Amino acid sequence: MKTELLKILRESDGYVSGQQLCERFHVSRTAVWKVIQQLKEEGYEVEAVKNRGYRIMTTPDVITAEEIRSRLHTNWMAENCIYLESVDSTNNYAKRIAEDGTPSGTLVVADEQTGGKGRRGRSWSTPKGSNIAMTLLLRPRFRPEHASRMTLLAAMAVTCGIRRVTGLDAGIKWPNDVVVNGHKVCGILTEMNTEVDYINYVVIGIGINVNQKEFPEEIREIAGSLCLEAGKQIGRAALIAAIMEELERIYEIFQKTEDLSELYEEYNQICVNCGRKIRVLEPGHEYTGVAEGINQDGELMVVRDDTGEKVSVYAGEVSV
Ligand code: BTN
Repeated sequence: MKTELLKILRESDGYVSGQQLCERFHVSRTAVWKVIQQLKEEGYEVEAVKNRGYRIMTTPDVITAEEIRSRLHTNWMAENCIYLESVDSTNNYAKRIAEDGTPSGTLVVADEQTGGKGRRGRSWSTPKGSNIAMTLLLRPRFRPEHASRMTLLAAMAVTCGIRRVTGLDAGIKWPNDVVVNGHKVCGILTEMNTEVDYINYVVIGIGINVNQKEFPEEIREIAGSLCLEAGKQIGRAALIAAIMEELERIYEIFQKTEDLSELYEEYNQICVNCGRKIRVLEPGHEYTGVAEGINQDGELMVVRDDTGEKVSVYAGEVSV
């Protein structure tokens, strides 16, 4: 009822009468009033005017399941949403609940991570109340060797979501970092549990620096936040909802072919490496070249400076 109530109040132009709400939810006026009180305790400013009804004045920057779901327009993505005030890592939590048969499309969101994990064994910081740490649980039916494609889809969804909500010129740094003005604002860590030829589940962990204003000295040059880039606070729940909507759209296109044949052009349009000189860092050796964009398998096509030969880079890191 709280989710639905938030939706109705937010989407209505003026006041919504108590009577209307009682009829909609088949409950008493006291029951409606109690939910309104709960919202006020959570930081929502709700005006109640006699003979007119209720109206939301301001919404706090919360990312509770109700706040996210009240903004969500998806058919199944993140329909099941779990909010945690604090957790070690949303990826670890999602893996734990995946073992209990939690459905595909479940989103785990946390306001704080105490042991957030980055790629290559690095740590990822999510201080309380300012950023987004979320993990999507999926149970895809394609082969395990194609699971890394999920990370590319997630990077597309985050980039499109950030562009839509903030108007910032976000782009993907291949394969799956999201950058704004050269600063990394999002990292993605995909983990999976598989049999030899079968995926039990995939968890896609997404960390976005949203309203963080200070970064430790050692990453100050490379890291950024949406708030610093936009010069204003960004609402986290609206951003999460937009990303989930984009991911549902992109995932459904992907599922038709299980490759990126219908998506690589869109990916390349928002990939900051395309047409640019890059340095490819592969285990044991590195080289420079010009990135042409990804192909339908998600590999980055690079024309090497030294040999002139076109090579495809499957995994690894590139620096601009
Ligand atoms: C990277 O190193 O760029 C990937 C960072 C991924 C961080 C996210 S935050 C949500 C999820 N939970 C984790 O512990 N890690 C991912």
